[in-house]
Amino acid sequence: MPAIRHNTTVRHETRAPKANAKNVRRHTLDRVLSKAGLSSRTDARSWIGAGRVTVNGMKVQSPDFWVDPESDRVVLDGKPLIAKKKVYVLLYKPKGYLTTYKDPEGRPTVYDLLNGTGEWVFPVGRLDQNTTGLLLLTNDSALGDYITSPRSKVRKTYLVKSSLRLDDEQLERLRAGIELSDGPTRPAEVTRIRDSEKYTFFEIVITEGRNRQVRRMVEALGAKVLKLVRTRLGPITIGDLEIGKYRFLTQEEVRGLAS
Ligand code: URA
Repeated sequence: MPAIRHNTTVRHETRAPKANAKNVRRHTLDRVLSKAGLSSRTDARSWIGAGRVTVNGMKVQSPDFWVDPESDRVVLDGKPLIAKKKVYVLLYKPKGYLTTYKDPEGRPTVYDLLNGTGEWVFPVGRLDQNTTGLLLLTNDSALGDYITSPRSKVRKTYLVKSSLRLDDEQLERLRAGIELSDGPTRPAEVTRIRDSEKYTFFEIVITEGRNRQVRRMVEALGAKVLKLVRTRLGPITIGDLEIGKYRFLTQEEVRGLAS
């Protein structure tokens, strides 16, 4: 197989393309792999250097090779990154699993639970290691980008158990928006479910997906999240899916997510 090596001069392919309507979708090969959710950019560069990636049938060993993920066929370890067939997988993520492809420390990842999906699928947003519940994985990058963009305001619903009993004023602060290190949160819908002697159980709906957002919001109240379960993404619910199992979305569910 012909190969393009990192130090080989392939002028027209390793130089940034001129900006025009056709090129706005082009990215370097390492970015395409990392954006697909399969690896960090550093890992992607080493996989590419190791000759594990082909573009349109040609082995490419330069991470700075420009590709259009919509039209170029990028293949990692013999599996196309972007397949013709769109696949939408709903996984009930258990506690302890990482939302990543490979963990350098060898901890379990959600990919350990995904045998048989047929195509590479990439997580749409992330759930923390100890968060459980609904995780969508797909090879439809346009839908993935739509769902994760804060502008789309797709609703994410979580059940929370807090380490303290929270009073009405504290729940109201969550509703109004809380100042975090990366700026104030948008207003959220918060519903108290019940209080036990020591804890409060509540539901929260947010329309952003910032890193550890719900945990940080609760920490801003002086409490901690003891349990966090995502039950809903837009119109899709986790339903009676068993923990650790996955199912494919129906066409109607996909349409619902996209609108
Ligand atoms: N908010 C969090 O704090 N963690 C998650 O995993 C998801 C949302």
